[in-house]
Amino acid sequence: MTGQMLTIEKLNSFYGRAHILFDVALEAARGEVVALLGRNGAGKSTTFRSIMGLVESRRGHIAFAGQDISRRPPHEIARLGLGYVPEDRRIFTDLTVMENLEVGRQPPRREGASWTPERLFALFPNLAEMRDRPGGRMSGGEQQMLTIARTLMGNPAMILLDEPSEGLAPRIIEMMAHAILELKKEGVTVILSEQNLHFASVVSDRAYVIEKGRIRYQGTMKELAADEDVRRAYLTL
Ligand SMILES: Nc1ncnc2c1ncn2[C@@H]1O[C@H](COP(=O)(O)OP(=O)(O)OP(=O)(O)O)[C@@H](O)[C@H]1O
Ligand SMILES: [Mg+2]
Repeated sequence: MTGQMLTIEKLNSFYGRAHILFDVALEAARGEVVALLGRNGAGKSTTFRSIMGLVESRRGHIAFAGQDISRRPPHEIARLGLGYVPEDRRIFTDLTVMENLEVGRQPPRREGASWTPERLFALFPNLAEMRDRPGGRMSGGEQQMLTIARTLMGNPAMILLDEPSEGLAPRIIEMMAHAILELKKEGVTVILSEQNLHFASVVSDRAYVIEKGRIRYQGTMKELAADEDVRRAYLTL
């Protein structure tokens, strides 16, 4: 199948009476890696939470794999094959790496790769060396990888990664970039939020730039790299 995997139109989201997202529009084609870039508080996490149905007060239209998910509850959206890795790592600290992966296991689906622990250890080689280690005894970067690996155990067709490079050591960032590029090869559609423009440029095909809850720019990574005004206005400090 070809075409759009995700289409967002006129998304407006609220926390209580605070209006946070304003007419956000965003698209991801099947197999694409798309970056959502923006500074602290720009609305990246709120966009992801809105897609997943985790922001109760939202208006607009969100279609995933041809289905309207604008009004579906989070568990149904996840079950349709949309994986989500939030900012705060949520591994089970008492469970081992292997057990954490088992918790995420779901039956294979029609679309998307079919993951096993062995295939995920090929994607994240450092996790392979610590299969029996409790999650609580892993570094932040290793926990970040485990969270992504566990989400992949659900065989999602698309995955939302909220700031995957945040707080990681350079060597781990490189492994993370490699893993995302491998996911792309497997045909998994990826949307990642980032403040790290360099990391985003290495892995992404296209970018959206969000500021104060509005999309200010969209283009290819190449176009963004050439547009110093946009970078200065919305990205660099
Ligand atoms: N639960 C909440 N209640 C009220 N306002 C919130 C809540 N969560 C976030 N906000 C506000 O919504 C706006 C967007 O926040 P959001 O977390 O989406 O930004 P972000 O781009 O993910 O930032 P960061 O890079 O710091 O993660 C900010 O002004 C923030 O203060
Ligand atoms: Mg955030």
